[in-house]
Amino acid sequence: MTRDASQRTAILELQGVGKRFRSTDGHERVVLEGVDFTLREGEVVSMLGKSGSGKSTLLRIMAGLIPADAGQVHYRGQPLQGPVRGIGMVFQSFALFPWLTVQQNVELGLEARGMPAPERAQKAAAAIELIGLDGFEGALPRELSGGMRQRVGIARALVIEPDVLLMDEAFSALDVLTGELLRDDILKLWRSGALPTKAMLVVSHSIEEAVLMADRVLVLGSDPGRIRSQLAIWLPRPRRADSEDVRLLVDVVSALVTAGAARRLQDSAPGPLVERLPRADIARIDGLAEHLARPPFEGHADLPALAREAGLPDGELLPAAHALALLGLAHLDSGDLHLTPLGSRYVAAARPLRQELFGQQLLTQVPLAAHVRHALEAEDEGRLPQEPFLRLLAQELGEAEAAHALRTLVAWARHGGVFEYDYHTGILSLPSDPDIDPAPE
Ligand SMILES: Nc1ncnc2c1ncn2[C@@H]1O[C@H](COP(=O)(O)OP(=O)(O)OP(=O)(O)O)[C@@H](O)[C@H]1O
Ligand SMILES: [Mg+2]
Repeated sequence: MTRDASQRTAILELQGVGKRFRSTDGHERVVLEGVDFTLREGEVVSMLGKSGSGKSTLLRIMAGLIPADAGQVHYRGQPLQGPVRGIGMVFQSFALFPWLTVQQNVELGLEARGMPAPERAQKAAAAIELIGLDGFEGALPRELSGGMRQRVGIARALVIEPDVLLMDEAFSALDVLTGELLRDDILKLWRSGALPTKAMLVVSHSIEEAVLMADRVLVLGSDPGRIRSQLAIWLPRPRRADSEDVRLLVDVVSALVTAGAARRLQDSAPGPLVERLPRADIARIDGLAEHLARPPFEGHADLPALAREAGLPDGELLPAAHALALLGLAHLDSGDLHLTPLGSRYVAAARPLRQELFGQQLLTQVPLAAHVRHALEAEDEGRLPQEPFLRLLAQELGEAEAAHALRTLVAWARHGGVFEYDYHTGILSLPSDPDIDPAPE
């Protein structure tokens, strides 16, 4: 997998995709809104999201099984208007026909495509063998274990030689060991090149599974469902669940999942994939927090009063207030700013602890910071040039804004000991010894 996935050919592209359903009481419920997503050649993407957030709905839209109500879906540059040959889907429940044998269940998709019987039989047999079910061609689903039934579901998706494979919690109905075995088999097939498949999207309810499988993890928020955050997973394969790297990333993704939920409560604005970081320097952020903590405010203020007291013009007050909110040190609520309990601790703390808190909040609240940090951790030398990050940012924000965002991120990250940056070479690196030597400002 090259690092520079953003340059690879797009297979599925979703822009502004929305879906609403009418419930039995006649009320409309917006399930998905403004979903932008591109699946590219060569990548495995995992999608996490709580139950009911619309993961299965999104997958069905991507498979062309149901239409979106808003936005566009393109498959290889063409608008997707129904099921197409290149897209295979493995369903959450096995969805096998109980009266058909394994062989017949697998052949179904080919029959629908009008393939002649001998060719069908031969392709189905090959898919059955690939997925490790040879010898069971004549069995009925009820004669199989859950794991074997899901293998049939997968063989049925693979038999059409899909360009894209969409898997909806394909392993969660199975017991843990069976699920892991099947998952590892799929990953082996994927890595061996035995599959014609160019990209996979895997919905998962397990953060560990997502980290083990994916090049990129997406978190779908709910009400309405949209992509809250994403994180590139740049660990080498095969990955082990008990490795330090995987455990660390599981923690980071858990933080993303909860941070997304916390931000949603605070702010119902759309969550961009890449944060537009407020341009606030540390001195302003700290100064504002200190003013807010002191009398007459004691932790609560409306912004105009705070601006007067702190002697700041709006242009400087607002970015600093947004920064405090982004870092979870304050809540910004219709023109009022409140310090959070953590924000109060932050103000009361002496400098080294303050910096540590700042770094911790940056890592858990700002996906972009976690993304850079983990990319660096995956490098032997702990160093990377800034260019790939700038390109990622530029995709979302445009080039000028990307440069500003990276500059702000770097200043914050150095302050919090999250990573270092060399202004001469543009090289990002892990701090040499964050415990003893907090990064200088
Ligand atoms: N055909 C439908 N008609 C009405 N409501 C629907 C329909 N399909 C899905 N929904 C509703 O849309 C929401 C999202 O459902 P969906 O199955 O996509 O969620 P999910 O994220 O896959 O959940 P889970 O993790 O439980 O599988 C749910 O509230 C569900 O009840
Ligand atoms: Mg589902």
